Amino acid sequence: MRVLGIESSCDETAAALVTDSGEVLADVVASQVAMHGPYGGIVPELASRAHMQAIIPVIREALGQSPGGLRGVDAIAVTQGPGLVGSLLVGVQVAKALAWSLGKPLVGVNHLDGHLLAVYLRRQGEDPPREGPAMPFVGLLVSGGHTALYRVEGCGDIALLAQTRDDAAGEAFDKAAKLLGLGYPGGPVIDRLAARGNARAFSFPLPMASRKTLEFSFSGLKTALARHVQQQGVPTDEQELADLCASFQGVIVESLVRKAILACQREELGRLVISGGVAANRGLRARAKEACDANGVELFVPPPVSCTDNAAMIAMAAAHRLSAGERDDFSFAVYSRDPDRRRGKFRRDGTLVERT
Ligand code: KG4
Ligand code: ZN
Repeated sequence: MRVLGIESSCDETAAALVTDSGEVLADVVASQVAMHGPYGGIVPELASRAHMQAIIPVIREALGQSPGGLRGVDAIAVTQGPGLVGSLLVGVQVAKALAWSLGKPLVGVNHLDGHLLAVYLRRQGEDPPREGPAMPFVGLLVSGGHTALYRVEGCGDIALLAQTRDDAAGEAFDKAAKLLGLGYPGGPVIDRLAARGNARAFSFPLPMASRKTLEFSFSGLKTALARHVQQQGVPTDEQELADLCASFQGVIVESLVRKAILACQREELGRLVISGGVAANRGLRARAKEACDANGVELFVPPPVSCTDNAAMIAMAAAHRLSAGERDDFSFAVYSRDPDRRRGKFRRDGTLVERT
């Protein structure tokens, strides 16, 4: 079975062809980063319009890379939410029209499920072929809009364990880069600078340091950086700027890794998957490996191209549902926020009392 995936939830217009075993046949991503860059963040109205212009050329390019083109497509998958409504509508309407005209099944996919299941994608040239983790596993999803821990029991059985109280990790990177005049998106440029810096040069407080909670918080860290910049100005010295980036990134990474290991211990699971745009961060990948090795946890991180927004992960998540005999009708709507997936009774600090 070949699934055509379509993704337009944020600032990337993407289309991909993936088989039900996760083999990526085509994967095309048109990024709007250059357009939003001057604004220091995504402008929703501009994003929707750019998706409208890019969506057909992107789908056409993906189909052109896959044997059989449109005739070889067995099902259509599209991101249904969460995301920017105006952007999501573009992908969903095209997907519905395609599925209807071709008489093929249609599946609406939760973007976050896509990120968590991207670990099962198999890309050409991987030697040996990548083996995904057995389920259940703990999933740490770190992107521009979300930072959360999940217990992934099955493809349709994903429970939220905890999430950020305020900013997402990617948002923290983006806001920090804006403060430092480094442009948008902030993650990749801070990652690059941090690689040359000393993470101990500046001290920022570790947020939510208590082992009692799995929750994250990054807005205090952003405020601490803003205060630093207000008092000392943006470093003009290149090494000092690299040190500041390394120190800032180091705190985010430490917070993410500690909570992820704590989640594995609490859930008694020895497998951790890290995904989402921030999982491309080299500091996070290295520190997570070190902590997982020390705690007997097996770590799975998809290659960066599968971590940042793409349509292959949407097709992958849909393939699981299609294999289980599921499909959606043509009447589904988009949603901007993730539906509540916490299962159980929780205290106010987010700690679990009892799983239901
Ligand atoms: O998953 P994604 O592509 O889109 C969302 O669903 O949000 O994530 C985008 C986020 C941005 O905030 C970006 O700054 C961050 O991922 N990001 C990174 C890196 N590459 C992308 N953050 C840290 N280090 C990176 N190398
Ligand atoms: Zn995403």
